[in-house]
Amino acid sequence: MSKKINRRDFIKTTAAAGAAATLMPKTLFSATASNRVKLGFIGTGMRGQWVLWLAAQYPEVDIPAICDIDDGMIESALKILKDAGKSEPRVYKNGDEDFRNMVEIEDLDGAYIATPWEWHHPMAIAAMENGIHVGTEVPAALTVDDCWDLVNTSERTGQHCMIMENVCYRRDVMAVLNMVQQGLFGELLHCQGGYQHDLRHVKFNDGKQPYGGGVEFGENGFSESKWRTQHSVDRNGDLYPTHGLGPVSTMLDINRGNKMVHLTSTATQSRGLHKYIVDQGGPDHPNADVEFKCGDIVTTVIKCVNGQTIMLSHDTNSPRPYSLNFRVQGTQGIWQKDAQSIYIEGTSPEAHRWESEDSYLEKYDHPLWKRFENEAAGSGHGGMDFFIVRAFIESLKGADPVIDVYDAVSMSVICPLSEKSIRLGSTAVKIPDFTRGKWKTNKPIFGLNDYI
Ligand SMILES: NC(=O)c1ccc[n+]([C@@H]2O[C@H](COP(=O)([O-])OP(=O)(O)OC[C@H]3O[C@@H](n4cnc5c(N)ncnc54)[C@H](O)[C@@H]3O)[C@@H](O)[C@H]2O)c1
Repeated sequence: MSKKINRRDFIKTTAAAGAAATLMPKTLFSATASNRVKLGFIGTGMRGQWVLWLAAQYPEVDIPAICDIDDGMIESALKILKDAGKSEPRVYKNGDEDFRNMVEIEDLDGAYIATPWEWHHPMAIAAMENGIHVGTEVPAALTVDDCWDLVNTSERTGQHCMIMENVCYRRDVMAVLNMVQQGLFGELLHCQGGYQHDLRHVKFNDGKQPYGGGVEFGENGFSESKWRTQHSVDRNGDLYPTHGLGPVSTMLDINRGNKMVHLTSTATQSRGLHKYIVDQGGPDHPNADVEFKCGDIVTTVIKCVNGQTIMLSHDTNSPRPYSLNFRVQGTQGIWQKDAQSIYIEGTSPEAHRWESEDSYLEKYDHPLWKRFENEAAGSGHGGMDFFIVRAFIESLKGADPVIDVYDAVSMSVICPLSEKSIRLGSTAVKIPDFTRGKWKTNKPIFGLNDYI
C-alpha cells in the first residue's frame, strides 16, 4: 500500500470520526519525515513560476510534480527547478483535466494553484478530495455555490484551502494592522481598499510576451491576455476584490467577531479597453468590434454587522498610477495610503492636518516583518510574496493557516455578488455567512505574532 493511501485513509477516518480539523494534531505532517513537505504546482505561468522559484529556495520543500498545458511555461518551470538544484518533477501536461491525475497519483502534502480564475475551484476541490491541502491564487471561486463547495469540502476532508492573498502581508498594511490592534485608531468606522491598476498592457499583448506590444487576447494572446480579458467581455462587476479586501478584513476581524452583511455595487460605462484597442491597433483591428461588459470603474460598498463600511474599487482599464486605495478610519484617527499620511487626534502635532505616515510605519513595524526583513527582500511585490509562500509551507508542516477557507470565500464571493448587485441596478445583496454563525466566537488568527 502506498504512503499516499495510508495518509488519505487516515484523514478520511479522522474526518469520519467528526471535527477532523480540530482533532488533527497540529504536527500531523511535521511529525513525519523530518519536516519535509511535498508540494505540487498546478499552473506554471507567470505567477506560478515566481512562486515556484520562491518555494524552491526552501531545502525542506520537495516539488515532485507540476501541471500545466503550455509547453513553454513548463519548460521555464523545469529550468527554475533545475537552477535551484531540485530533482526533476513529473510533469502533467495532457490537457485541461490532467490535474486530476496529478492529485490522484501523487503523494503530495499541498498543491499550489495558479491557473486562470475559472479553474481555481475545480482544482482546489480535486486536491482536497485527494487529501491534499490547497493554496489557491486569488480569487478562490467565481460563484456563490462554488464558495460553499470549497467550505463544505474543506470541512468534510479536513484539508486547508488557503487563499494566497499576499497583500495581507504588505509591510505598511501589517504596520497599520498592528496600529489597529493596539487601538491607535479607536473603534474602526470605515475602511477602503481596491485594485486600481492599469492592466491594459496585461489584458492585451502581441501573443509572444506577457506585457503589451499589441492588442491581441484570447487564443492569440499570451499569459493573462489569453483568459483574463474574456472576463471583461462577459462580466460586469468587481472582478478582483481580494487584494483590497483581504488586508482590511484582517483589520475588521471579518469572520472572527465581525462579518460582512450586504453590499451594493455600481459600475461606470465601459470605455477604456475599446479605446486602447483603437488607439494601439487602429479602428480596423478585428478586436475593435468587441464589446466589453465590465464597467471601467466599479465601486462596491459593504456593510459590516458591527457597523463599519468597506469601500472597494476595481479600476483596471484606464491610464492611472498603481494604488490599492487603502484608507483605515476610526473614532480616533485615519490612515490614507494615497496621501502617505496619517492623523491621530491627540497625537498628531497639528489639529485637522495630516502628518507623514513614515514614523508610524517605522514605530509599528510588524514583528513578523522585523524578524524576516532580510529574507523577504527581493522576494517580489515589495517582499510580501515571501510571507505568503512561507505561511503556506508552514501550514503544510502542521501550523494552522492564518488565512483560511472562510477568508478565501468571504474575499472571493464579492465577485459574483457585485455582478448581481450591478445587474439589479445597484440593489443591496446579502453576503452569506460562510462560518455558519462561528464568526461570533471565532478569535482573530492573522498577524498576531512573529511566527506566520
Ligand atoms: N497574488 C498576486 O499578486 C498575483 C499576481 C499575478 C497573478 N495572480 C493570479 O495567479 C493566477 C495565474 O496568473 P498568471 O499571471 O500566472 O497567468 P498565466 O496565464 O501566466 O498562467 C496561467 C497558467 O495556467 C495554465 N493553465 C490554464 N489552464 C490550465 C489547466 N486546465 N491545467 C493546468 N494548467 C492550466 C496556463 O497554461 C498558464 O501557464 C491568476 O489567478 C492570477 O489572478 C496573482
